[in-house]
Amino acid sequence: MDWPGKRGSHPIGLLGLGIHLPERVMTNDEWAEYVDTSDEWIVERTGIRTRRIAGREESTADLALAAAQAALADCALEPADIDEIVLATDTPEVFIPDTAAYVQARLGVGHIPCYDLAGSGCAGFVLALDIARSRTLADGRRVLVIGVELLTRLMDWQDRNTCVLFGDAAGAAVVGAGPGAVEIVAATAGTDGSKSDILGVEAGGTRLPITVERVQQGLHKLVVMEGREVFREAVGRMSQVSLQVLEKAGVSMDDVALVVPHQANLRILNAVARRLDIPEARVFMNVQEYGNTGSASVPVALWEARDQGRIKPGDLVLLTAFGAGFHWAAALLRFQESPGIDSGC
Ligand code: UT7
Repeated sequence: MDWPGKRGSHPIGLLGLGIHLPERVMTNDEWAEYVDTSDEWIVERTGIRTRRIAGREESTADLALAAAQAALADCALEPADIDEIVLATDTPEVFIPDTAAYVQARLGVGHIPCYDLAGSGCAGFVLALDIARSRTLADGRRVLVIGVELLTRLMDWQDRNTCVLFGDAAGAAVVGAGPGAVEIVAATAGTDGSKSDILGVEAGGTRLPITVERVQQGLHKLVVMEGREVFREAVGRMSQVSLQVLEKAGVSMDDVALVVPHQANLRILNAVARRLDIPEARVFMNVQEYGNTGSASVPVALWEARDQGRIKPGDLVLLTAFGAGFHWAAALLRFQESPGIDSGC
């Protein structure tokens, strides 16, 4: 089949993939020491059993840098081979400037342009892949795409409605044109800004500046989340955008070997499988181990799917994500028959 999105004779896509997971594993029983919850409740409602927690000495840029270095090593490229960095996060290193600037300096890539997709929620990484692909298509740039989240640092450890759901992680991909690239066959995204107050962190912006009083009330860490509405939207939008990207590529769900969705809740993933009418075995799930790692969840899941041999040469793999905004995005990947990134399988 002749796919769109080639530069010259080479496909545009993922040249390398890397992840970084903090060492410390936190169990549900440990959460029960902080809030009125239980392993039983968390497993039944979310499927989550453990998550990773970044150490006190680690920051967002540390996690991002480690994932970026792993992605470069995966495709045997040097920092000097990168032309641009786009970093998706809701938990930045500092408020201003963006985390990408810190990563750029520490990675030693020179004065290349770099920027954050901030506040793009859990859809950030897939959206960034789409942007990177168009940068390569436009002028052959090699773009480092990072999804990183240190959610456990910024959230309220006393709010049982949200604290048990999240974890820390980073994932990165080098996007460019090359013979062994995992081709980004098609990508698509959307936003419904009318739902922006249903999921997010309100304090800290110009609408609700941080004051001593607000900090005393714990508002600076409050994650606003209408759980059931977010659940419904996540299932609907991830399913819908999946079908849209397949239509764009001119293929059907039967052609897809594996769906790698944003990992928010096992029940959401099961519902997406039902909505797409595919067996759960064709939907990759690791939320049980890492919880919801925001914009890092898709690259971490993709890396693990590859690492576990769940992806074969020639496979079509569908990425789908949903998050605050509401934003959603999907990308269809085709792993190459010839060695390249696939050799990591
Ligand atoms: O990437 C996007 C980020 N967010 C999401 O993806 C969240 C999507 N939503 C969900 O995953 C689910 O809605 C939740 C896991 C958040 C909640 O599950 P649910 O089945 O929708 O529960 P619920 O909202 O109906 O709450 C049931 C009860 C409530 O108690 P009452 O009011 O019935 O007495 C909550 O207070 O469960 C209570 N509850 C808890 N109990 C024990 C909420 N959190 C906890 C907890 N432990 N950690």
